[in-house]
Amino acid sequence: MIKYLGSKRRLVPVLETLFDFSGARTALDLFTGTTRVAQAFKGRGATVTAVDSARYAEAFAQCYVATDARDLDAGDLAAAVDHLDGLPGEEGYVTEVFCRRSRFLRPENGVRIDAIRRALDEDFAGSPLFPVLLTSLVEAADRVDSTTGVQMAYLKAWAARADRALCLRVPDLLDGAGTAVRGDALELVRDGSLGGFDLAYLDPPYNRHRYTANYHVWETLVAWDAPEHYGVACKRTEVRDEPTSVFNRKREMPAALAEVVAGVDAGVVVLSYNDESWITRDELVDLCAVRGEVRVLVFQQDRYVGARIGIHGPDGRPVGEVSHTRNVEYVVLAGDAATVRRMEAAVGDRSR
Ligand SMILES: C[S@@+](CC[C@H](N)C(=O)[O-])C[C@H]1O[C@@H](n2cnc3c(N)ncnc32)[C@H](O)[C@@H]1O
Repeated sequence: MIKYLGSKRRLVPVLETLFDFSGARTALDLFTGTTRVAQAFKGRGATVTAVDSARYAEAFAQCYVATDARDLDAGDLAAAVDHLDGLPGEEGYVTEVFCRRSRFLRPENGVRIDAIRRALDEDFAGSPLFPVLLTSLVEAADRVDSTTGVQMAYLKAWAARADRALCLRVPDLLDGAGTAVRGDALELVRDGSLGGFDLAYLDPPYNRHRYTANYHVWETLVAWDAPEHYGVACKRTEVRDEPTSVFNRKREMPAALAEVVAGVDAGVVVLSYNDESWITRDELVDLCAVRGEVRVLVFQQDRYVGARIGIHGPDGRPVGEVSHTRNVEYVVLAGDAATVRRMEAAVGDRSR
């Protein structure tokens, strides 16, 4: 899986326990990102729907959530990965924009990414292998990128991992059916089109930084639309020109989150949030009270690497200052009292 700001990698064991003790069989991951939480629920036997507004997240969800491993021939998949991995490089948009105009990837890897992405459209369009191979490509590119984990800037000196050769791997697919949806969480909850779930996991953005800017290289690799770009980081112009997600707007986000919490069709809601965001712990509890019993679990953790070493501009100079290196992650449980208490008891005392 890719490096991702706000990824719940370290919370997965807790979320698995919560899922198990909720008794749920169906689950919604409404801001799925890397899909790692959706995968965790699917791995516990749930039928999962994974939603996100980003194109790359939809590709990951089609791969890991919607694809039933039993429907694919493992030999065909491995052969396709080998074939793509062996293609000779070809200059294209990635090489020009992300290796020469900017320096997110080494040109030796950029030409191979261009060749593989082109071959995906020519040879695999419409195939069930397509999202799996596309995910394999994005993940391979992520392993050789030259960033701190976000694509607002690249490193002044090449990251050591950028020297390695791009290498595609077969994604670890899971058995079972699921659904991938690209869309706006608030609109989808409003129109009711997602249906009902036993458990809904909500992990919205925490600040004004939009994910499609932080991961614009992956967005372009998936969209494959050779977009106009701007700035040193060569971001897609749509990042600048289109409205931000309501969850990235300080004044509107609390009401939007409250509407999603109240409106999502689910037995129990599990909401991730942290102490760097625009809503306080008490406000979170208040907005979840509409669903019944509310409990807050508290986890201390390190912030992402960029926050720990500081962000640097293209000239290598630090931009801003490192304010703190730890934060608090909240997991809020809301639903009927018996279920919420059972879930809380399963993870032990996490009240502070
Ligand atoms: C904190 S991240 C989720 C991380 C995810 N749980 C993981 O472990 O990878 C928030 C996600 O919300 C998505 N997002 C932002 N605005 C959205 C919206 N209006 N509707 C749906 N998804 C949105 C972003 O693309 C991002 O992937």
